Amino acid sequence: MRKVVVHKPGSYERLTLEDHFDPEMKTGEILVETSAIGVNYADCIVRMGLYASAKDYVGWPITPGFEFAGKVLASDSNRFTVGESVFGVTRFGGYASRIAVPSAQVFRLPPSLSPVQAAAFPTVFLTAWYALCDLVRLRRNMDILVHSAAGGVGGALLQIARASGCRAIGVVGAPHKVDVARALGAQAVIDKSHEALWPAARRLAPKGYDVVLDANGAETLKQSYEHLKPTGKLVAYGFHGMMPRRGGRPNWPKLAWDYLRTPRFGPFKLTSDNKSVLAFNLSYLFERLDLLDEGMQGLLDWLSAGKLTPLPVREMPLDRVAEAHRELESGTTVGKLVLIP
Ligand SMILES: NC(=O)c1ccc[n+]([C@@H]2O[C@H](COP(=O)([O-])OP(=O)(O)OC[C@H]3O[C@@H](n4cnc5c(N)ncnc54)[C@H](OP(=O)(O)O)[C@@H]3O)[C@@H](O)[C@H]2O)c1
Repeated sequence: MRKVVVHKPGSYERLTLEDHFDPEMKTGEILVETSAIGVNYADCIVRMGLYASAKDYVGWPITPGFEFAGKVLASDSNRFTVGESVFGVTRFGGYASRIAVPSAQVFRLPPSLSPVQAAAFPTVFLTAWYALCDLVRLRRNMDILVHSAAGGVGGALLQIARASGCRAIGVVGAPHKVDVARALGAQAVIDKSHEALWPAARRLAPKGYDVVLDANGAETLKQSYEHLKPTGKLVAYGFHGMMPRRGGRPNWPKLAWDYLRTPRFGPFKLTSDNKSVLAFNLSYLFERLDLLDEGMQGLLDWLSAGKLTPLPVREMPLDRVAEAHRELESGTTVGKLVLIP
């Protein structure tokens, strides 16, 4: 089998495609021949050596990758038989042509998803589900502000907000993303490269937002909080604004500066403002198979009822993984990138 291995942290040249023996299948696992592998922004942070849970669970060398679709090659579980089409999640190791995973992390391919769409589905939709349906309890007609709305998680957030009867406003960083965000469910889109973000956000929800979803970090967190209405919730789930858009290596002075200027939210002010700040990292939630199951079941039900549609996906061969990372880090992509092994 072939897999992408990163032996030490660094830029794109660290992504090496290597031949290896098939992974060993443990009790309760299944072996999958992958046909599509989803790329996530977090994979780039793993490559740079800045992803805490990658260091906690794997260290170096590491194969990035959280999601895949393919066919069952061998099964040590009565949930799946050889030859079935499946998709699933894995805590790292996904950038590979064969992968052994616990059967609880694998799901049957639904008729509404192609393997390529399925490989792009779980990470971003589970992230969005956990944020909006577990941390926040969405109610109809809520006003929701979604940053980076035309990207992977952003697109999934818009879809779930729409499916839940809420009014989602999308924020994007370039004009070519406006129509994408609208098609994914944004009732209005703010292109912050062309208009001032916060006056537009205020105009679109004069009383403030019920929920703001922010993975930018220092660049917007403070204002995101200030634009909540009382009872509003800010969900912080990423810090991509701290990262470089080109070159593939962290800019340490910028990282340090952004770290220092990231707002600290204290309990006294939160209480008197009557607002909440929530945060999470899905990669620490693999022990919570109950959540994985509940989230995926809910998402697949919505999908089969036609309430969710798959995100736009661009395919690239696995040996162009470096290019995929470069593009994702440039901040210009929409929807998802998927690698074909
Ligand atoms: N906490 C969790 O469990 C969890 C799980 C999955 C993803 N995430 C986080 O969610 C965010 C989105 O992930 P994704 O995989 O779906 O990526 P994505 O949204 O498809 O791509 C990243 C987007 O972030 C924006 N961006 C802003 N500043 C950037 C910078 N300096 N470099 C690159 N992009 C920048 C760009 O959109 P605009 O310019 O339009 O804003 C870009 O398109 C990431 O921060 C990721 O780490 C967190």
